Amino acid sequence: MKISIIGTGYVGLVTGTCFAELGHQVICVDCDENKVRMLQAGGMPIYEPGLEELVRKNVASGGLRFTASTKEGVEQSQAIFIAVPTPPLEDGGVDLSFVEGVAREIATSMTTYKIVVDKSTVPVRTGEKVAETIKRYCKSKVEFDVVSNPEFLREGFAVSDFLHPDRVVIGVTSQRPVQAMKDIYGPCEAPIIVTDINSAELIKHAANSFLALKISYINALSVICEQSKANIQEVANGIGMDARIGRPFLDASLGFGGSCFPKDLSAFIKISEQLGYDFALLKEVQKINTHQMDRFVKKITDTLWVVKDKTIGVLGLAFKQNTDDIRMSPAIDLCHRLQKEGARLRAYDPKAMEKARAVLTGVEYVNDMNEVADGCDALVIATEWPEFKKLDLERARRKMTHPILFDGRNLFDAAGMERLGFIYKSIGR
Ligand code: UDX
Repeated sequence: MKISIIGTGYVGLVTGTCFAELGHQVICVDCDENKVRMLQAGGMPIYEPGLEELVRKNVASGGLRFTASTKEGVEQSQAIFIAVPTPPLEDGGVDLSFVEGVAREIATSMTTYKIVVDKSTVPVRTGEKVAETIKRYCKSKVEFDVVSNPEFLREGFAVSDFLHPDRVVIGVTSQRPVQAMKDIYGPCEAPIIVTDINSAELIKHAANSFLALKISYINALSVICEQSKANIQEVANGIGMDARIGRPFLDASLGFGGSCFPKDLSAFIKISEQLGYDFALLKEVQKINTHQMDRFVKKITDTLWVVKDKTIGVLGLAFKQNTDDIRMSPAIDLCHRLQKEGARLRAYDPKAMEKARAVLTGVEYVNDMNEVADGCDALVIATEWPEFKKLDLERARRKMTHPILFDGRNLFDAAGMERLGFIYKSIGR
């Protein structure tokens, strides 16, 4: 099928590339001409495992191309996916101006029946607004259908999440676009849920809020574990084996971050408020998340007593493993807080150092994870990169002024670390 994707960010680029991989003819559109030129020249604006190879392969076979012209994308496609940003407003609500702008552009470029699919994360009832907008601005009164098709892609695993989804959600107001949507996703062989648009939109916010709730639940339990000398990992394994609960998303940490959970949670609280419901449960999820970082910082300041002029090594700057994304990264937040206390920082991340440099200044960036510890009064693990498990701990202990390790991701075995001579503080253990 001929498909265009408007917006070539994380979601748009992964979606367009994977659709091409599934055998469709795809045009990725972006208003940023520099980005389009970069992609046309074989460059990649983001790091996402496996994506670059797929882009290269599908561009070479002619199934994927890039343009800055929405008109061209719309004219040459049967289905048009909207994948533009929906950034937060100051009051926690959602800025829908990019979605609205694209809806207008689509309306003015349509000359034949189109399926307009919203992939961006939007408040419930946005589909109705998109349909109204297209109707209003489409002078030639062409027929169209608006569909909601939320994404559930985890950064770092986005390609495999796309090609092997747990489910595909399709929200429609009529049966007309259903078969085409099923054909688009057919090669994925995933369960397809066909529902109304409002439910589809709600599924996305409900899913992310529930996952954030799951993390805050385990993080709250980590406090109880610390007070009662229980072990959060044992508790997580024990409750996670109940199929109704499930083990994923029960890893206690220094808090969740990223471009989705914090934003989607605030948005869903705001949407609920606008619909007349005070979603106090989700407000508590946010509070627990902030508290978890406060507790981690306190652990560091309590142990070091005076942080001013101490050298602290930080391993990990991305908001999680397998990505160069630092948006709402707990690691960056932690660095800022430690700098505020007067600490000198040395930092390393396998992928995110370039992006970190723009927002985190006054830090000594180190190119080898093992050298971060050199001369440090304490070492902190802030991101769960698997390679940090291979850290040369013997070397770190020798090279540090004091062998103190704060593990915000529970990567190491506590007893083993103590045997190695570390003062080791982790989460909920
Ligand atoms: C999330 C959703 O998972 C995805 O379905 C959605 O569509 C986009 O938002 P993403 O933001 O890429 O994906 O990251 P995710 O893997 O969900 O992790 C979010 C945050 O939670 C990270 O900071 C991560 O470190 C943290 N986390 C995750 C934990 O602290 N503990 C866990 O057990 C799992």
